[in-house]
Amino acid sequence: MSRIETLRLDVDGIWFGGDYNPEQWDTATRAEDIELMHRARVDTATVGVFAWSSIEPRPGEYRFAWLDEAMDRLHAAGVRVILATPTASPPPWFSRLHPEALPVTADGVRLLHGSRDTYNPAAPAYRAAAERITRVLAERYGHHPALALWHVHNEYGTVSHGPETDRAFRRWLRERYGDLDTVNSTWNTAFWSQGYGEWDDIHAPQRTQYLPNPSHLLDFRRFSADILLNCFRDQARILREITPSVPLTTNFILPTWNNYDGWAFAAEVDVVSIDHYPSDIGPRGEAQVAFGADLARSYAGGRPWLLMEQATSLTYDYAAGRFVPKEPGRMRRNTHQYLARGSFGSLFFQWRAPRVGAEFFHSAMVPHVGADSRGFREISALGAELAGLAELALAPHAGRVVDARIAIVWSADAWWASETRALPSDDTGFLAAVTAVHEALWRSGHAVDLISPDGDLARYDVVLVPSLIPVSDAQADRFARFARAGGHLVLWYLAGTTDEHLRVRTGSFAAAFAGLAGIRVEEHVPMHAGRTITLDDGSRGEAWSEVLQAVDAEVVAAYTADAHAVLSAGSPAITRRRVDDGVVHYISTRLDDASLRDHLGRILREAGVAPTAAVAGDGLEIVRRRAGTHTYLWILNHTDEERVVPTRGVDLLTAVEVDGEIAVAAGGLCIIREHRTESDIEPAADDGR
Ligand code: GAL
Repeated sequence: MSRIETLRLDVDGIWFGGDYNPEQWDTATRAEDIELMHRARVDTATVGVFAWSSIEPRPGEYRFAWLDEAMDRLHAAGVRVILATPTASPPPWFSRLHPEALPVTADGVRLLHGSRDTYNPAAPAYRAAAERITRVLAERYGHHPALALWHVHNEYGTVSHGPETDRAFRRWLRERYGDLDTVNSTWNTAFWSQGYGEWDDIHAPQRTQYLPNPSHLLDFRRFSADILLNCFRDQARILREITPSVPLTTNFILPTWNNYDGWAFAAEVDVVSIDHYPSDIGPRGEAQVAFGADLARSYAGGRPWLLMEQATSLTYDYAAGRFVPKEPGRMRRNTHQYLARGSFGSLFFQWRAPRVGAEFFHSAMVPHVGADSRGFREISALGAELAGLAELALAPHAGRVVDARIAIVWSADAWWASETRALPSDDTGFLAAVTAVHEALWRSGHAVDLISPDGDLARYDVVLVPSLIPVSDAQADRFARFARAGGHLVLWYLAGTTDEHLRVRTGSFAAAFAGLAGIRVEEHVPMHAGRTITLDDGSRGEAWSEVLQAVDAEVVAAYTADAHAVLSAGSPAITRRRVDDGVVHYISTRLDDASLRDHLGRILREAGVAPTAAVAGDGLEIVRRRAGTHTYLWILNHTDEERVVPTRGVDLLTAVEVDGEIAVAAGGLCIIREHRTESDIEPAADDGR
């Protein structure tokens, strides 16, 4: 039996609710909260995130009354509680008593109390305090009937420098490398006289003159991620000791925050949960939702996961310095995107908008203006709709719920490596490369998973590898085995150009794969911003090109005469090579959106992989997902025109039998229970989760 099956988790419907902060409100408002939750069909509340100073206003002095009352009242109202440990925001007294545990920037500036996340995850005093408050909460509420799920911390992601970190970083390096000579040779510290003679000379990367050492930086990112995982483990150990049957999660922030390694965390939580705030409210916003949901499901090994936070409307657009609203209908469609892609609930930040506080204009289920508002009406309508869809509930131990035959490789290491400042171009970001490929597949209606470079590739027909700069020999072997066994492997420029320590492999760029792909990459030819390059099949590339030789590969497309001066016309741009039973493709430029779609289409056709439905794509999102003994087809029309979709089954929202086709209104959606049986569906996997 897998671990999750031994845990207590009730999933008799779709979880619906959000972050609830009764500690911020008076008695009358708290009473109204319960009434409004009832009206909105809320059945889940996340309580206690950031509530440390309300629970323990002075060291060792606890105030449980408000939390006791909240747990009891919510339980009486039939609302389950996801109880958070409040460790993402230690109270001011903690910072006063332990200034050494405050975070320090790379400039050596100690950040003071006044916001949130003001702690250094490597500081022993912080770790001890976090363990203590976790134990206090577990002992007091671990057996409360409202408790459904532990929410450990909030969005692990804090990075700190400074003396406490230096000590921990040195310990980490000793464990990893054993001795200083190995550190020196791995980082090639002879370059610019960085050779270390004493462990104490090594620091967390500090602000320095000119460029830092890339391998030093990459190891610091790995160390910081490990420290955060250790913080999680401290708490998980205590919670599992005191409440062995209560599952636990921690909410990942996706997709733009990369101070942690999602795969490593995912292997240790019982339930994967994410917070998701798309930065765009146009079609790109929908693509972002699909990406976040696919990544969450992939972290969960293809199984159900939980959307812990999304915004009802206004979200902050940091780049633009303003809030962007969601137009009517978008929140509902977004919610169904997450559900279709495997979430077993839809939770929001936050239940009620606070009157003041750092995020006082952030949107909420109950806005400042109260229940007489578009926001609350839409929330209540959504709550009622989801309450009527209990047959879509997913037990977290159900097997894989979406059948994808395509996987994109996703790696924290590669993301960190792509942020190295001394790469030949700043235009080679990992996240951008991965999301461009995901979006192209989303636009053409394909089901996609994300996969770790150390994950099980064998279940897929096509594995896509955009911008995976560091690749170890062992990883390169696994990709090669995948291709030789019949897989279609698609490599983009820079893949496997270095080993796992960011040491460039010699003889060819992309050397980890050059032999396999039958190519030799002789030169990188980055392009100026705004320049494009045409290939002889009409495709267009931008940002990057290469002097590439097809040593033992077919040339699918070549650069033309309008190429960069370093490239000659006819020089290979895209290649293909058959290896045993599989095929290896190499793409040496960043194709524009249309060309990327064309080439992916060509590769997927060759691999025999079809979209979920022939009409899917271009704003018509169609996802097939399993629940119980049926499959369900979500048809989401993100466009402003009605769309007609061939399908058969029962339309769950109208209970009407569909026999042929269904018209989906502009901005609308439908969910079809298909006439399929369990035998058509891949069985639940048991890998011990
Ligand atoms: C998340 C966080 C919430 C809230 C939200 C605002 O990072 O968990 O507490 O701050 O963002 O979008």
